[in-house]
Amino acid sequence: MTSTRTTSTGATGSRTPFTAAATAHDVLRGVDLTGRTAVITGGYSGLGLEATRALARAGARVIVPARRPETAREALRDLPGTEVAALDLADADSIRAFADALLAAGRGVDLLVNNAGIMACPETRVGPGWEAHFAVNHLGHYALVNRLAPALTPGRARVVSVASSGHFLSGIRWDDPHFRRDPYDRWLAYAQSKTANALFALHLDALAGDRGPRAFAVHPGSILTPLQRHVPREEQIAQGWMDADGRPADGFKTPAQGAATAVWVATSPLLEAHGGAYCQDCAVAGPATTDDMLVGGVKPWAVDPEAAARLWELSADLTGLDAFA
Ligand SMILES: NC(=O)c1ccc[n+]([C@@H]2O[C@H](COP(=O)([O-])OP(=O)(O)OC[C@H]3O[C@@H](n4cnc5c(N)ncnc54)[C@H](OP(=O)(O)O)[C@@H]3O)[C@@H](O)[C@H]2O)c1
Repeated sequence: MTSTRTTSTGATGSRTPFTAAATAHDVLRGVDLTGRTAVITGGYSGLGLEATRALARAGARVIVPARRPETAREALRDLPGTEVAALDLADADSIRAFADALLAAGRGVDLLVNNAGIMACPETRVGPGWEAHFAVNHLGHYALVNRLAPALTPGRARVVSVASSGHFLSGIRWDDPHFRRDPYDRWLAYAQSKTANALFALHLDALAGDRGPRAFAVHPGSILTPLQRHVPREEQIAQGWMDADGRPADGFKTPAQGAATAVWVATSPLLEAHGGAYCQDCAVAGPATTDDMLVGGVKPWAVDPEAAARLWELSADLTGLDAFA
């Protein structure tokens, strides 16, 4: 059996009791989240579903905003402590309606996991012509956090931005974030949005200061999930993600393992002094020393405080929201 506990430290010296093999359930074993409320976007598929299961089992009330509420209700039918609400991150009105309902009900949010995402889609425009990866993966979550700001429990809330080593391929395309000048590239579009996820956590944490929330970015690992729906099977085999029988490649995680780092950063007291950090394998990640995304680590453009501040400004301009100013 693979060990899920370790006595080692993470790449940057942050202590971690877990290995890359730990599951979300391993991470929360013995942790009591009774009385805590979590919100997990996309918490009814892939990694989000595993995070929802683990947090709910640990006693948290888990609100799952879903762009397909009926599918979400079906996925969570047998999971006590969960509830579903409609939310489409591509639609500013839908984000406002979700947040307003939560605020009107006077509910506090202790853990907000910005997990929903799309990858390698054909060129798609949403809202005022925004590129869909940037809009859904980043701007939608930017708007959600800013709208939910009054509900984030002071001094206790954590915001988790589910990023990816997919960020290796691109920083923020300052001159052309929406691919209006350059030809659309689905991998660069995904990469930019994942760099944005990491920078968002960095600047949110800096802006929030002592009053919180603490914010973190996470690379979950490589996991076969419905995220790959736009990547043809032959391409997945050619990329080395799976063998001809659909079995995941060596180094891939299960969805339950892929959810571990997100629930660890959402709950671990060991991270109190590491706000803004980019984490993987239940530890603060070190600088990427290779271009191999399976190895991971973080590229400089995803942890650059100046880029993080500039992205925040761009996002505030685009969405008209800036609750942490
Ligand atoms: N799997 C990996 O190897 C991997 C690696 C690195 C990072 N990640 C990141 O991990 C996160 C979760 O991915 P996953 O692998 O669990 O994929 P998944 O199973 O496809 O889950 C993604 C979720 O996002 C939701 N979503 C998509 N567009 C949305 C929108 N406009 N509004 C609201 N929700 C929306 C999806 O809803 P529907 O089901 O209704 O479409 C789904 O529930 C993503 O942010 C991804 O970038 C994954």
